[in-house]
Amino acid sequence: MAAPCPHILALILAAGKGTRMRSAQPKVMLDLGGAPLLAHVLAAAGAVADAVRVIHGPDMPSVVALAEAAGASLACQHNQRGTGDAVRAALPLPEGTERVLVLSGDVPLLEAPALEAFLAAVPVDAVGVMTTTLADPTGFGRMLRDDAGAVVGIIEEKDATEAERALREINAGVYCFPAGPLPRWLNALTADNAQGEFYLTDLIALARADGVACLAQHEADAESLRGANTRAQLADLEATLQHRRRAALMAAGVTLRAPETVMIRGTLKAGQDCIIDAGCVFEGIVILGENVKVGAHCVIKNAELQDGAQVAPLTHIEGAVVGPEAQLGPFARLREGTVLGRGTRIGNFVETKKATLGDYSKANHLAYLGDATLGERVNVGAGTITCNYDGIGKHPTVLGNDVFVGSNSTLVAPLTVGDGAFLGAGSTITKDVDAETLAVGRGRQRSIAGWQSPKARAQQIKDED
Ligand code: UD1
Ligand code: CA
Repeated sequence: MAAPCPHILALILAAGKGTRMRSAQPKVMLDLGGAPLLAHVLAAAGAVADAVRVIHGPDMPSVVALAEAAGASLACQHNQRGTGDAVRAALPLPEGTERVLVLSGDVPLLEAPALEAFLAAVPVDAVGVMTTTLADPTGFGRMLRDDAGAVVGIIEEKDATEAERALREINAGVYCFPAGPLPRWLNALTADNAQGEFYLTDLIALARADGVACLAQHEADAESLRGANTRAQLADLEATLQHRRRAALMAAGVTLRAPETVMIRGTLKAGQDCIIDAGCVFEGIVILGENVKVGAHCVIKNAELQDGAQVAPLTHIEGAVVGPEAQLGPFARLREGTVLGRGTRIGNFVETKKATLGDYSKANHLAYLGDATLGERVNVGAGTITCNYDGIGKHPTVLGNDVFVGSNSTLVAPLTVGDGAFLGAGSTITKDVDAETLAVGRGRQRSIAGWQSPKARAQQIKDED
């Protein structure tokens, strides 16, 4: 197959170690809103560019794996000698590349529409740089303009004069370059500066010397251009991202009782008139139908809750499908592979795993249902346990429609119970039970009249002495 000819190639700079994060992981792998920083940048880049290339450092297998999974190509920068050197590591460019968009792996809030607008605003043969104005520009490169306002260069803070440091228009670290002259400019870079690095920012002056126009695209929304160099900055970005996600949910007709306390670490889709109470955390892909109510402090991961389902506080749900009008919690735990039918009920201190409950079945208190298939209208009494594990393998429990399981029953799998069967409270059921049958598996009660308590017996011995 012929290699595709990308017109726009996005380069994501991700070779930096991120020393200030004090992490054993590469900085771009730290989590933001349920995904690594780099995943956010890959998504935006993938939406606007024909091809994406990630520049990583040596010994970054997690970065390589994430980039490959996103369909990006890779380039390794063996020694981190600056942002210019990092872009140089991406050479040679794929054949057919017309423009190169440069992004930072640690600037994750910039979304595709802003990048599209940037690329549209800059002519294909010009150099573009995104800028913004900050009240406190500390740490950023400052934009240098001539008297007519044209961009003439970027000066890094460490190389800047006092007057230059007073400038508040900063380089956001997002650029586009014409692919033709880019390799020549990169090879002309020197490390003749305060940090002894090859600065990508020096390309502006080099391009101008070549007679190429440089345009600054000033972004009013400085929030999107923020990077994460420290954990505190990462927390700020998280707050911004969560704020955006909550706002989108509310705009779509969802009530958040305490928006600032709800965390969406992935994708949450919710239908009209859902109500989410304080302190809930959503992870992975969560889908709520209409009129779903989620009580306070629930954690819900990779799950679907259908129309009218109600979840009482402090319920934990992972990998489950919850049918319409189901009622869960408080203090319920639904684990991977739980499928609940319409109007089902899972109450306090009930744990389910790979359990299917037919419509209107319920386990209201203190139970464990694992590797279990329950028909419709099954009642599971308090304290019921499926013994699904024999120390080696897992075994299934199958309960038909309208089965009644008395409290404190022990269901030793593999086990099949037919429709309408009734299991007496406190039973240990080890053998299959036919439909419409009463099964009792427990010691018979004996009531012993004239029984003497140990205390009474001791007294009697004493009296006889
Ligand atoms: C850079 C800019 C600065 C700008 C700021 C915006 C330069 C010289 N300066 O500074 O003008 O205001 O971004 O955030 O470009 N990286 C590599 N290899 C390297 C060095 C860096 O891949 O050898 C990567 C980092 O992982 C990071 C990005 O390039 O993703 C930016 O590097 P960083 O060191 O954070 O640059 P700043 O000092 O923030
Ligand atoms: Ca940075």
